[in-house]
Amino acid sequence: MKVSAVVLAAGRGERMKESANKVYLPLRGIPVLSYSLRAFAAIPEVDEIIIVTRRGEEGLASRIVRDIARPTRIVPGGKRRQDSARAGAEAASGGVVLIHDAARPFPSPSLIGRVIECVERHGACVPVVPVADTVRYTDPDGFLLADRIERKGLLRMQTPQGFLRDRLLAALAATVETITDDASAVLAAGGRVATVPGEETNIKLTTKGDLLLGEALLQAGIVAREDRNG
Ligand code: CTP
Ligand code: MG
Repeated sequence: MKVSAVVLAAGRGERMKESANKVYLPLRGIPVLSYSLRAFAAIPEVDEIIIVTRRGEEGLASRIVRDIARPTRIVPGGKRRQDSARAGAEAASGGVVLIHDAARPFPSPSLIGRVIECVERHGACVPVVPVADTVRYTDPDGFLLADRIERKGLLRMQTPQGFLRDRLLAALAATVETITDDASAVLAAGGRVATVPGEETNIKLTTKGDLLLGEALLQAGIVAREDRNG
């Protein structure tokens, strides 16, 4: 089945507290968005890449896309992440779509490969990593609540999340509440979602500290800048 990668770059990056959208900030001299585009372009099974952008930022994205050796398309996103995901999936021509946060620059080739294989088998698939810290809620004043949250079995959701395109579109169309990943839409629609192991290095750049961590991972050679363009 044809595979489309949909890279979501249409956010504001407010928590990064920079004037520019975080996906265009340089990471060791290259915009954050470039990393995931190169990662997908290096995977032979990925047939096309859709980049979902904020209005007014199409030019920034098209400059980055120039050196990506895959059919690429830039489409406008929406107000919420799920609106952007829907716009991207609608523009995709593949029977399989991989929805990825541009804010995650380091998905490895093997991670992308695992997700593709898993979605072809199960129809919906998410990379996950176990939660290592103790987790708790606080009250509105910042004091801990006594309720224990069982950490065992608790997982963090990463991207790319892979879906049969039609199944994802139906689920997103039916979702009214605000969600932060695409598996949430499929689950709310009653669908089953399989998992594959994610990666600790597949970090999401949310705050300035994450940028420093990303720089350090690159510097140490723990993650690679994908220079091949498939
Ligand atoms: N995103 C998007 N469209 C939106 C909101 C988010 O395409 N309306 C994208 C972001 O560009 C990002 C990914 O979804 O690559 C994950 O979202 P998040 O990390 O929350 O990024 P932002 O929404 O940009 O950041 P913040 O929430 O701090 O404003
Ligand atoms: Mg956000």
